[in-house]
Amino acid sequence: MSSPKSGSPKLGFVHRFVPSTGRPVTLLMLHGTGGNEEDLVPLGRRLLPDAAILSPRGKVLENGMPRFFRRLADGVFDTNDLVVRTDELTEFVGKASGTYGFDVGKVVAVGYSNGANIAASTLLLHPRVLAGAVLLRPMVPFTLQGAPDLSRTRILIEAGTDDALIPKELPEELARILESAGARVKLRWQDGGGHTLTEADVEAAREWLSENF
Ligand code: MLT
Repeated sequence: MSSPKSGSPKLGFVHRFVPSTGRPVTLLMLHGTGGNEEDLVPLGRRLLPDAAILSPRGKVLENGMPRFFRRLADGVFDTNDLVVRTDELTEFVGKASGTYGFDVGKVVAVGYSNGANIAASTLLLHPRVLAGAVLLRPMVPFTLQGAPDLSRTRILIEAGTDDALIPKELPEELARILESAGARVKLRWQDGGGHTLTEADVEAAREWLSENF
């Protein structure tokens, strides 16, 4: 097995890349607030052990904690910044595909919290970039005029019934927005689950990914 490569910021993001050992899929791992490019590599290995992993570090700092875009308050996003950061992330995926030689048509995002929110933004603003996404504890990034075409995209949303940060309406609304754009969406509720992922969340994501990709 090849060892993971450390990323160079010259692709635009500090990142880790782990080559595939068979499956022609790349998991784009997007961490939560305060995370970094290392955090979700073990999760990616567990979810699809033979897929490649591309794991960038968010470039915005909030009190020293990396994030993928600015927010004005808890759950109140700086939408202008989110759009710019989503464009940057999209460009990074394209450049990384050229550098590492993975199939740009087979990139599946796995995002947690802040990372899930930029993954959802990427689905809405750049619908061809992701073949699929696992959105762990997402909110609604913004509402769009006009729906993108997500008819070839498969999405798993995992929400917690007792998530103190995310009202139940938000994952439901996100599922509706993505479905109305044509995506095949599964919304899974973790009974009693808070904002932190449970073992059952991880197992459900693993099953869904191996069935769909
Ligand atoms: C966000 O800012 O993206 C959400 O509030 C989730 C988080 O706390 O990172």
